[in-house]
Amino acid sequence: MIRRIKGTQDIYMEEITYWHYVEGIILDLTKKYAFQEIRTPIFEATQLFKRSVGEYTDVVQKEMYTFEDKGGRSVTLRPEGTASIARAYIENGFINFGSPLKLFYVGPMFRYEKPQAGRLRQFHQFGIETLGSEDPEADFEIIDFSVNFVKALGINDFQLLINSVGCEKCRPEYRKALKKYYSGKLDRICDDCKKRYETNILRLLDCDKDREIAKNAPSIHDYLCAECSEHFDKLIHLLEENDIDFTIDESLVRGLDYYTKTAFEIKSNTLGGQDQILGGGRYDGLIEQIGGKRVPAVGFAAGLDRIILLLKKEKIVPGDKEKPDIAVLAIDEIAKKESFKIAEYLREKDFSVFIDVVNRNVGNKLKHASRIGAPISIILGENEIKSGEISIKNMNSGEQKNIPMKEASTYLMGMLKKKKVGN
Ligand code: HAM
Repeated sequence: MIRRIKGTQDIYMEEITYWHYVEGIILDLTKKYAFQEIRTPIFEATQLFKRSVGEYTDVVQKEMYTFEDKGGRSVTLRPEGTASIARAYIENGFINFGSPLKLFYVGPMFRYEKPQAGRLRQFHQFGIETLGSEDPEADFEIIDFSVNFVKALGINDFQLLINSVGCEKCRPEYRKALKKYYSGKLDRICDDCKKRYETNILRLLDCDKDREIAKNAPSIHDYLCAECSEHFDKLIHLLEENDIDFTIDESLVRGLDYYTKTAFEIKSNTLGGQDQILGGGRYDGLIEQIGGKRVPAVGFAAGLDRIILLLKKEKIVPGDKEKPDIAVLAIDEIAKKESFKIAEYLREKDFSVFIDVVNRNVGNKLKHASRIGAPISIILGENEIKSGEISIKNMNSGEQKNIPMKEASTYLMGMLKKKKVGN
């Protein structure tokens, strides 16, 4: 048997209701905050990710799905969305749309990681990006959005962690200080960190294995230049003024190289293991770094697969939106033809209607209607058609009643307690 690839998933039945629930909240919030959707390809030139995410990051070093296409080009399944947004910004001249430009995206991302609960090889992100503002107000809006997104999902037990990772001007001095601090401790750090010491020293701060050593490392806040420091202070004030709870986490450095100034994450307190539900920050140099003008930007991305795990864990149940309102069960040939007309009529009245198109007896049809969760079945036979009535069965109480077709819509609305206009 051919099986799906490790670290991927089929999403169906009950599961899909969670996705529709989350996607509904995304569409609602992005509209409220006036962010526009952008859809970019799921594969890009490999060079894009090397130059933006960073040659020495884990993502580029270990996790990319990179292959040569039949034309001999090196292409990569996108491991994240921000690099593509930056590329699209330059390529399509988004600068002409004015600043700030506020975009959002939803879609699959690919990282060759060790699969476990909440960590997949094909996972899904929802991300937002504000391009063309260097002001802390833009960072604030992104963070405010992220908090409201998590709350709108019904998740309340979480922490917002925030830090500054400095900029191209002040980070070199900080790197030097870290090098000095770790230089006498190389025999005590893990093998990965030994490599990172040479290539990506900031990442030593957020290594789970070397937490104790990181505790006494120099703080970036002692090295921030005046501009970064002022930016951070203003952001903190905005968060405080707007009653957004946060914790400053000096070890938060993020796994991607393009960040400047603000870095933040939201972690669930109940998820355990893979507890980071979203992360983001400012990336003022990225667009320039890949060939555009200097366009300061800030954004975040949330892991939807992880969020859905969390919703289940917290017993947040999406509604019954996916279940049909009514199942139409035609029990003979005349009724079969009529059933499509009746279904059509009911759909026009805004009911969701499931027609049973399998030839079987009424008992089995009712069994299936109940299995798919239809609260009402309409049973149609030649007799009903001739008398201009339909037989309506309440699947919960078992009660069955014949109703003239003309009154059906109002009657069904009453049963479903729906407010619909017209009949
Ligand atoms: P990231 O922290 O690498 O940031 O990913 C964002 C979120 O994607 C994580 O918080 C996590 O929930 C989810 N995620 C990452 N890897 C996996 C995985 N293997 N399986 C399941 N979920 C995963 C970024 O990708 C940046 N582009 C965010 C950003 C946008 N920064 C600025 N703008």
